[in-house]
Amino acid sequence: MQSGRSAYPALEGRHILLGITGSIAAYKAAVLCRLLKTAGADVRVVMTPLAKQFITPLTMATLSKNPILVEFFDPENGAWNSHVSLGEWADCLLIAPATANTLAKMRTGVADNLLLTTYLSARCPVVVAPAMDLDMYAHAATQENLRMLADRGVKIVEPAEGELASGLTGKGRMAEPEEIAAFVDSLLARAETHIETHDKTCDEKKKRLQGKRFVVTAGATIEAIDPVRFISTHSTGKMGYAIAGELARCGAEVILVSGRTNLPTPAGVERHDVLSADEMFDATVEAFAQADGAVMCAAVADYTPAEVSDTKIKKNDDELTLTLRRTRDIAAHLGARKGDRVLVGFALETDHEAANAEAKLARKNFDFVVLNSLRDAGAGFRGDTNKVTFIDRAGCEELPLLAKTEVAARIVEKIETLLF
Ligand code: C5P
Repeated sequence: MQSGRSAYPALEGRHILLGITGSIAAYKAAVLCRLLKTAGADVRVVMTPLAKQFITPLTMATLSKNPILVEFFDPENGAWNSHVSLGEWADCLLIAPATANTLAKMRTGVADNLLLTTYLSARCPVVVAPAMDLDMYAHAATQENLRMLADRGVKIVEPAEGELASGLTGKGRMAEPEEIAAFVDSLLARAETHIETHDKTCDEKKKRLQGKRFVVTAGATIEAIDPVRFISTHSTGKMGYAIAGELARCGAEVILVSGRTNLPTPAGVERHDVLSADEMFDATVEAFAQADGAVMCAAVADYTPAEVSDTKIKKNDDELTLTLRRTRDIAAHLGARKGDRVLVGFALETDHEAANAEAKLARKNFDFVVLNSLRDAGAGFRGDTNKVTFIDRAGCEELPLLAKTEVAARIVEKIETLLF
C-alpha cells in the first residue's frame, strides 16, 4: 500500500491474526485493526465468544475487510473454521486485548474456544497485550502466567499505568494501539533477519548456545552495617533474571550469581545466592573461570561499611558517621582477564549517559554496554519494561521501550553475533 510513508513498514503484506478477548479495551482493537490495515497488513480477526459483548463482529469485519471468526463451526452452514490453517496463515498472532482469563488458559493449554485452539496451533510469533484491572494484573497468578508465557517465547506488550475502566488508577490499561502496532512492526522486521521463536520452535532456539556456559550477575548486593541494617539499591533483579532465562532457553549452561531479589529461579539456570559485593566477587570470578562469557547485570554496591558492627548500633542524639570503603569491581576484574570471552556490562546513568557508558566500555573492557537512563519513562528499576541503548566500539543502537524479556532476547542475539 503506502510503504514509503508507512510508520510500520514491516507490516506491509503481512498476515496478522488479531485475537480479541472480552475486555473493555476491545474498543481499542478497532483502532489497532485500522492501523494494521493502513500499514498494508492483511488482517483476520478471531474473537472469543465474550469479546462480542464488547465490540461487534460487524465493526471488526468492516475494518478488517474479512469475516470474523468466533465459533469452531459456522452456525449457518456447518463449515469448519480450521484453527490449524489459521495458525499457518498468520505471520503473527496478536491478542489484543488479552484478558487474565485468556492468559491463564494460554498458559495451561486450555482449548475451549477458537482463539485458544488457534494459539495452540500457531507456529508464528505470538504477541499479547494484556488488559485488566490493576489488582488482577498484579496478582501473583497473572504475573506467573505472563512469566511462563514469556519463557515460552510469547511476546508481551506491557500494559500502561493509568485510569482503568473500574475507575481505579494503576497498571493494567492496555498499551495504546500505536505502541502495539510498533511492537509488531519491530518484531516482524527482526523476524526477517533472525529465526523468530515461539513455543513450537524453542527446540530450534535451544541448539543455538548449546555447549556454551555463561555467568550472569543480577540483583542488588547487601552491605551490612550491623546485624539489622544494610546499604543496598533498588534493583529487583528482573533484567538479569530475564537474561539468565533467555540464555538457558537458547541451550546455554547458566550460572546466575544473584544478590537479593524475590524472583523465582528461571528454568534451567543454576543459581548461587550471595549477599555482599565481596561474596559476589568471589562467586563470579570462580564461575567465570569455566565460562564462555558473562553478563554483568547486578547492581553491585560501590561502597561497603569499613567495619561491620557485631551488635545493633544503638541510637543516641549524636550524628552517626559511617566510614565506607570501595568494593572490588567484578566487571573490571573479569575484563582484564577475559581474553576472547564475551563480556557484557550494564550502565545505569542519570546524566551524561552515552559518555559515561562509553567510558565504562573501555575501562571494564566490555564487548558492549547496555545503557539505561533513569530519565526514560519505563526504564530502569522495578518495572517490567526497559528502554536501552547498546553501545559498542562501532557505535550505538537505540532500542524502543520493550518488555524486559524482549530486551533480554535482543541482548542474547547480540551475544550470539559475537560468539559465532
Ligand atoms: O561502574 P558502574 O557500577 O556504573 O558499572 C556498571 C557495570 O559494572 C555493571 O555491569 C555492573 O554489574 C558492573 N559492576 C561490577 N562490580 C562492581 C561495580 C559494577 O561488576 N563492583
